[in-house]
Amino acid sequence: MSTPIVEVRNLTKRFGDFTAVDNISFDIHEGEILGLLGPNGAGKTTTIHMLLGLIAPTSGTIHMFGLDLAKHRESILQQVNFSSTYISMPFSLTVEENLKVIARLYNLQNIQERVDTIVEKLEMKDIQKKLTRKLSSGQMSRLTLAKALMTEPKVLFLDEPTASLDPDIVNKIKEFLREYQRTAGLSILYTSHNMREMEEMSNRIIFLQHGHIVAEGTSDEIVQRYGQRDLEEVFLKLAREPKGK
Ligand SMILES: Nc1ncnc2c1ncn2[C@@H]1O[C@H](COP(=O)(O)OP(=O)(O)OP(=O)(O)O)[C@@H](O)[C@H]1O
Ligand SMILES: [Mg+2]
Repeated sequence: MSTPIVEVRNLTKRFGDFTAVDNISFDIHEGEILGLLGPNGAGKTTTIHMLLGLIAPTSGTIHMFGLDLAKHRESILQQVNFSSTYISMPFSLTVEENLKVIARLYNLQNIQERVDTIVEKLEMKDIQKKLTRKLSSGQMSRLTLAKALMTEPKVLFLDEPTASLDPDIVNKIKEFLREYQRTAGLSILYTSHNMREMEEMSNRIIFLQHGHIVAEGTSDEIVQRYGQRDLEEVFLKLAREPKGK
């Protein structure tokens, strides 16, 4: 595969005495969808927060587009976006107003056109004029995805983007992301607790457990290595292993 767009080396995050992410290294290549898998508390969100520059690593380095995130945060983050079920957006603005604010923050051109395109793609026409405070959780997820995709990022971090979406929109979003990945060479780091989705979406998977990478490879490789029938069985096997094993 091509050059890595994201290079993570020996990344560690400690909160007091507790080590949430423990000396992990991995790359994300151009046009690759990398799935970050692991049980609750494994360190997935903490890793994404470090990649977004929201929290500082205790040690280790993150390079994106060949630049050190610690030194070139602003220019790197212009080409990066993220979506999470758990982020909030200004509640007193409408969906459309929120998207326009994001468009201005990213200095986008043809703002109305972009908003209309993304609203159509994610089937949000019926909520376009709705106040953000009045959105259902699935509608909120669409809005956070829309704001992430609208800026046409080169790298996208998606933390459980489909957690509260119905299967129909999940399918559409998967197709949309794959299409976008193919045409724009977008690289994606993705977390989900849905194993089928992980298998379908990811070119490669990293399995995180107690802050360590315990398995890495394609879904098929991981399943074979652990002698299980599918990723769900591997997950159950690994997740039930006690800490320190
Ligand atoms: N600000 C913080 N202070 C102290 N501990 C934290 C903090 N943020 C996260 N942690 C701890 O770090 C560990 C990893 O949390 P993280 O949110 O990264 O897990 P996760 O893999 O995203 O889990 P989930 O699947 O539940 O989303 C957890 O034990 C969590 O309690
Ligand atoms: Mg998380």
